[in-house]
Amino acid sequence: METTLDELLGRLTLEQKVGLLTGKDFWSLAPIPEIGLRELKLSDGPNGIRGTAWDERETSLLFPNPTALAATWDPAQARRAGSLMGAQARDLGIGWHLAPNVNLHRSPLGGRHFECYSEDPVLTAEITAGFVDGVQEQGVASTVKHYIGNESETDRMSYDARISDKTLREVYLPPFEAAAHTGAWSVMAAYNSVDGASMTDNRPLLTGLLKDELGFDGVIVSDWTAARSTEASANAGLDVVMPGPMGPWGDALVAAVRAGKVAESVIDDKVIRVLRLAARTGHLEAFDADFPAVGSGAGSGAGSGSDSGSGATAATPDDAEAQIRDLAARAMVVLRNEGGLLPLDPAALARIAVIGPNAGLLTAQGGGSAHVNPRHVVSPLTGITEAFGPGTVVDFAPGVLTQRLLPQLTDATSRDPETGAPGLRVEYLSADGTVLGSEIRHVSRLVFMGTLPSGTASVRVRVNVLISEPGRHRFSVSGAGSFTLKVGDIASLSIALGGEDGDPIVALVKPPERRIEAELAAGTTALELTASVDSAFGLAIFGLHHEPPRPTDDELFAAAVAAARAADVAVVCVGTTDEVESEGFDRTDLKLPGRQDALVAAVLAANPRTVVVVNAGAPVEMPWRDEAAAILWAWFPGQEGGHAVADALTGAVEPGGRLPTTFPATAADAPVLSTTPVDGTIDYAEGALFGYRGYRAAGTVPAYPFGHGLGYTTWEYQDATVAVNETDCLVDVQVRLRNSGGRAGREVVQVYLADEDGLPPRLVGFGHVGAEAGRTATALVEIPRRILARWDEAASAWTVAPGVRSLLIGRSASDVRLTEEVTLRGGYVGPRSAASAMNVTNSAIPAITATKEHSE
Ligand code: BGC
Repeated sequence: METTLDELLGRLTLEQKVGLLTGKDFWSLAPIPEIGLRELKLSDGPNGIRGTAWDERETSLLFPNPTALAATWDPAQARRAGSLMGAQARDLGIGWHLAPNVNLHRSPLGGRHFECYSEDPVLTAEITAGFVDGVQEQGVASTVKHYIGNESETDRMSYDARISDKTLREVYLPPFEAAAHTGAWSVMAAYNSVDGASMTDNRPLLTGLLKDELGFDGVIVSDWTAARSTEASANAGLDVVMPGPMGPWGDALVAAVRAGKVAESVIDDKVIRVLRLAARTGHLEAFDADFPAVGSGAGSGAGSGSDSGSGATAATPDDAEAQIRDLAARAMVVLRNEGGLLPLDPAALARIAVIGPNAGLLTAQGGGSAHVNPRHVVSPLTGITEAFGPGTVVDFAPGVLTQRLLPQLTDATSRDPETGAPGLRVEYLSADGTVLGSEIRHVSRLVFMGTLPSGTASVRVRVNVLISEPGRHRFSVSGAGSFTLKVGDIASLSIALGGEDGDPIVALVKPPERRIEAELAAGTTALELTASVDSAFGLAIFGLHHEPPRPTDDELFAAAVAAARAADVAVVCVGTTDEVESEGFDRTDLKLPGRQDALVAAVLAANPRTVVVVNAGAPVEMPWRDEAAAILWAWFPGQEGGHAVADALTGAVEPGGRLPTTFPATAADAPVLSTTPVDGTIDYAEGALFGYRGYRAAGTVPAYPFGHGLGYTTWEYQDATVAVNETDCLVDVQVRLRNSGGRAGREVVQVYLADEDGLPPRLVGFGHVGAEAGRTATALVEIPRRILARWDEAASAWTVAPGVRSLLIGRSASDVRLTEEVTLRGGYVGPRSAASAMNVTNSAIPAITATKEHSE
């Protein structure tokens, strides 16, 4: 491949080369037909494949959130999700996927916690490798992000993460190391700085560590608008600036090359990397025989395999939605199950109460760039009603409302003023008010990122709202920019709403809102909203909202408690929303929003047979947890979430998830809580002592430990054998278990190592087994020598201290069932090992992951 790439490079002028290295727009790189390079399209993100527009009509599959995937503790499941996403990317003509997000759960307040896998480097590395392999086996590039030190959102564009070399290597690097070893085709450079150098300018970490030392041969793309310099970023090793066409490269970079400030060979290396990615993803004609072109499938903007166009060539399988449902249910975690209340038997229940704000309105995903527009979202109410069937009466009561913004308009109450058809009329106006184009939309939160017709100065929305209930109606506008809102000729509003700190994502995820009220009779009311456009970026992000008269908060609450009292079993679905857990800002506490804690407590008092379902991406405080008979942690389960909740509740699928992160009893217990930079700096001074190792070091008992999850059966750990496999640089641990419960189930076997330095044990490997009730099974856990090693700062090398160490084998970081000893030979691991006396014959750095399919 490399000779051909060199030959293609040789046919390009300097201007063409540099032109390729900045986006053509928000989501693509320009084609160069002379060398057979097709347009390369990029798309977010870890929840699925959003595509290049933010539009409810361009639907795609919405997956369980990444932390849920990690809760399977199963790289094969991550690979399954990645492969489905890769397949859909191909059908949508996307060659370059902006996921996974492998930053760690350092503080539970981190806004993108829901988007990241785990607090543990080894679990994150294994899941990362599985996911990347899955996406790329479809011929789509995976982008491992955000490199590096991007664990929080407050001042995310500017903070400087102070991380010692040892902490960086041992804690934050392993997922990126796994990505490089598994052959990821792209990495994204983060917004923040590390040790004083912006990550897009950070030569030691981009070129020195990632490219030279780890051998990464893919493309380093900037986070969106993260590149802020010309020469420094070009010389540091950044390959592509996004978005375009503006940005610090272009003509300025051509001039820098001509002035000798950036060598042309540096540009050539970047271009070769882009061409390599293009070849691998089917965007370079010279390689079409080896890598078929992306977008040669159905390419219809489909919601699932079953409707993804003409059929024969669609890559997305027909059962994709069923697979997403299965993944979501498997990932759910049984936190508590007193007296075996779960699983529920529909045949034995005449009446159930389905309660809580998230029961009718599932939070299927978190907020921010990871957002995907699914074809549908199945609520727990729908899922449970379908699963229980006509033999069970289902009473529904939300109890509490938790949305910050008023509800959006939907087709149920919106009519196009011109045709009377369902929907809102959206018109694009030039500066002199000429209508440049119009279309009908079906949601009223609208996001335009580089997708407006050229010359658009403002966007106008007109809609007739059907008013079925006379009384006081509330309307509002949300977003950033200048707005005029008219409610018939009764009320109007003209305002500017703030775009805070210049991060465009804030208008999207945390928009200010202004409300007006109007007393309306039944009939139709005309609404008209005009919104300004941010011409620098071609951005318009705003919402139009409406809330009809509704019961008071106390009435809602009382109705829920009454429903619980009358039922055989109450299922109360509480949780966060995408207004609480989002990119762009961190949480300020870990409380469930609104009066949900009071609701759960009242429901528990009214009916002891209550299951609490928590629909959240990241930990929340659960002050009522010891009173609840059962708690099912459902994550943000994606578009099929309601079905998956029902499958887990009834045991149609075992909710076999284990926590990939520690759940604190209260926020104050978290070893690292604050995400606010001090004088622009975030000091990672705790080193490895956050997450479960931090709790252990502080002697704090969490609500639920790392690794915890009950499933629906019990396990007896019988014995373990440990063998040092010198040939493969592995320690093999075999653990024999018996399913001692009454149902078939699946167990995750976790192996922790007590290091020689006396710090709390750390996860070094895991495996899983399945067995029928009463049967035994053996789990094999392979621990690569690199994982056993520690970073020796003085020698700049991975090294294993010789001696005897304890391996702690069990069900969670706090539930150790067996302890075994292993004798380790000392010495360097990796390139230095050839010169050392440790019998390691390979000169490459050994792989960090040991992913293998285990027979169950
Ligand atoms: C996020 C990235 C994302 C990019 C493009 C940024 O704000 O940090 O994760 O891929 O936007 O949407």
